[in-house]
Amino acid sequence: MTTLSIHRAFRRALCLASLLLAPLALPAQAGGAQPAHARPDARTAAQAALPAADRVLLGAGGVTLELTAPRADVLRVRLGHPDLPEDASWAVVPQARTAHVPLVRSQQGTRLTVRTAALQAVIDTRTLAIDILDASGVPLLQDAGAGHAFGSAAGGNAGFVLTKQLPEDEHFFGLGDKAGPLDRRGQSYVLWNTDAFGYGTASDPLYKSIPFFLAANEQGRAFGLFLDNTWRTNFDFGRRDASRLEISAAGGPVDYYVIAGPEPKAVVEGYAWLTGTPPLAPLWTLGFQQSHWGYKSQAQAQGVVDRLRSDRIPADVLFLDIDYLDRYRVFTVGKPQFPDLPGFVKRLAEQKMHLVLITDLHVPHVTDGSYAPYTSGHEAGIFLRNPDGSEYVGKVWPGDCVFPDFSRPAARDWWGGQYRFLTDMGVHGFWNDMNEPAIFEVKSKTMPLDTVHRIEEPGFRPRNASHAEMHNVFGMLNTRATYEGQLKLAPDVRPFVLTRASYAGGQRYAATWTGDNSSSWEHLRLSVSQLVNLGLSGFAYVGDDVGGFAGSDPSADLLTRWIEVGAFNPFFRDHYGDTKPPQEVWVDGPTHEAVRRRYIEERYRLLPYLYSLAEENSRTGLPLMRPVFLEFPAVLAKPNDSFSGTESQFMLGASLLVAPPPVWESPEAYTIRLPGEGWTDYWTGQRVEGRQVVEKPELERLPVFVRPGSILPKQPLLQSTQQLPVGPLVLEVYPGADCHGSVYLDDGTSFAYQRGESMRQAFSCSQQGDALAVDVHERTGAYQPWWSGFEIVLRGWGNGAAEATLAGESLATRIEAGTLHVSVPDLPKGGQLLVRAAP
Ligand code: GLC
Repeated sequence: MTTLSIHRAFRRALCLASLLLAPLALPAQAGGAQPAHARPDARTAAQAALPAADRVLLGAGGVTLELTAPRADVLRVRLGHPDLPEDASWAVVPQARTAHVPLVRSQQGTRLTVRTAALQAVIDTRTLAIDILDASGVPLLQDAGAGHAFGSAAGGNAGFVLTKQLPEDEHFFGLGDKAGPLDRRGQSYVLWNTDAFGYGTASDPLYKSIPFFLAANEQGRAFGLFLDNTWRTNFDFGRRDASRLEISAAGGPVDYYVIAGPEPKAVVEGYAWLTGTPPLAPLWTLGFQQSHWGYKSQAQAQGVVDRLRSDRIPADVLFLDIDYLDRYRVFTVGKPQFPDLPGFVKRLAEQKMHLVLITDLHVPHVTDGSYAPYTSGHEAGIFLRNPDGSEYVGKVWPGDCVFPDFSRPAARDWWGGQYRFLTDMGVHGFWNDMNEPAIFEVKSKTMPLDTVHRIEEPGFRPRNASHAEMHNVFGMLNTRATYEGQLKLAPDVRPFVLTRASYAGGQRYAATWTGDNSSSWEHLRLSVSQLVNLGLSGFAYVGDDVGGFAGSDPSADLLTRWIEVGAFNPFFRDHYGDTKPPQEVWVDGPTHEAVRRRYIEERYRLLPYLYSLAEENSRTGLPLMRPVFLEFPAVLAKPNDSFSGTESQFMLGASLLVAPPPVWESPEAYTIRLPGEGWTDYWTGQRVEGRQVVEKPELERLPVFVRPGSILPKQPLLQSTQQLPVGPLVLEVYPGADCHGSVYLDDGTSFAYQRGESMRQAFSCSQQGDALAVDVHERTGAYQPWWSGFEIVLRGWGNGAAEATLAGESLATRIEAGTLHVSVPDLPKGGQLLVRAAP
């Protein structure tokens, strides 16, 4: 049976089960008392130890329901059939999983109401149907009928269906990098990590499984739902039945969290509280990155770096794909083609470039003792096994391969330790690919579902687990092993790991990209919804293969456009497949190269803004790249109007709005609709009158607008983030309501920032009588910034003469093309600049 047919059969079984279960609902448990069959055993000891006030436990119809609140704005619902499932998680961080606040109960007949300060649940004690409401009683998520049905297999792994009501004005986002429209409503998705080479705009499933969605209605009220279940899962947002949200899984626990908003941002932050934030990225990973499957020799790869430098294209990273390996064997170097990898790394360091190396998780099955990673892994017994105890062998790039059992600490340690020779060379960036895991020559594209994994993880009972349970979390555990291994080998260097597959919470270990896209306008367009939905799903360092990985080669215009957009994506890598003609920045001649260079340069100027966003993300979970509604929930009022025209747009942080055309191929003028008034064209400094701009597409112009009330920190142009900027920090001031900005800085590479070696400075602006006041607030933190002072830049000033004063002293002003510049000395203690029209 293929996995698909298993799934179909399972769905049929569940439908049957739901029919069977409904009449079995038992009468109410008096007063919500403990049901006889709820037997909290060792597995649920942590929950059983909860104060009674912090936990509601009910039973009916052979089902147990437990409700807890890790914090007031997060409810956790677990259902068991008959017993509660194991209380354990790969995704939820221990602090969140063990946190709980008291629940206030009241009961009227069979209606039990349970409250926290922010949420309430109303449970029908006869059926265990549960409605979640906000504190004022407005429903967020309501069960349809009993709301749950379990399959019938023994052992609790028979699967389930949860059925919720689907109000007409509810819209859905998240679930990672699924293809299709921004809004998931009306769609149905399978979560099953899949090597989806050359996927299309409707392909499903793709590489990642992130069972989290953000729901928002047309009033802009949002909540989130995270189903912590690693099994093959299906989310149907009204596709099968327009009035139903159906969530089903082929096995595993019913264990879900409802996160209150009401603002969409609060939901994103709540989800980050549950599953963790990405660690602060090394600064160099925000630079431009060049990659290709097919840099077949050291000389060729060196040539690419030399050309980047001689063409003065700012860049920080070169990737090597599987070509650098000896016969595609992980943790080797192919000597004929890469005769001196340490020398190459050293030369790149001199050129202020980092190297990122691919290290796929499949380990070649070389049994004659000639390949140390297999020999040592085999001796340590850390490879996955077949049910008969033999090592599971599957084909990937190198031929027959075995796979470390990443759910075991011993296997993760072993894997992490393999990197020593590369880390010793000075390589600190690694790419974990094919970790769905991808297997060649089998219809399922992955390993058999009965392959045996071993779980040895705090919170879990030590036990064997099937691949059906571990598949979706395998890639994440691979990246965890890589990330944690790096921390052991080089404890004070921030690692960079890039992954293709992952699960909820995987953002704690790795950045990600959208896999093997194609060189087409359709894919460039699709990337916006993929990347913003990933950002809502916890993954902030996200990008796609700029120019497209598969398909025919991109036209010159397509590659130029893609680089323009990529310059505003969090992770910015030009990567292309082995059969394609060159796709580097310089192909297609000097005119295209000049446009592409200009966009890459602009990204380097924006690095202080980007890095400050990265730091904000590491604290709060707010993504760098955002759907417009995250900043302006009011656009949700018109979802049928492509979210007030913002569907093809995205925001980089709170200040920049990037507005690609809805149809890239069309030369026709189009109307850009902005979520409010007072915006400024980023390139020209012209203020937009009203809320709309008519844009005539021009190849060299990607429309970008700045939100009123923004202060953007920018720096002088560099060729690499490893160069120290020289000169002032530029502060571009765009007056408007609540005008503010800030900059965060540290050494960009080490963990010294966690020991106080960082700095932060905030800025604000306001109208004071006839003057515009720009306030530089006092700097905090011990890190010494590079700048010599500030250059305050007021775009759209016009040509009138200006006066500027700082603490009563006059400062020189300069007006250039309608923009006013004032140089201000460094102000660690802060100060106020006043600018007014000269009398
Ligand atoms: C996979 C990756 C792609 C990589 C190739 C060779 O297809 O998604 O990025 O270049 O394998 O390693």
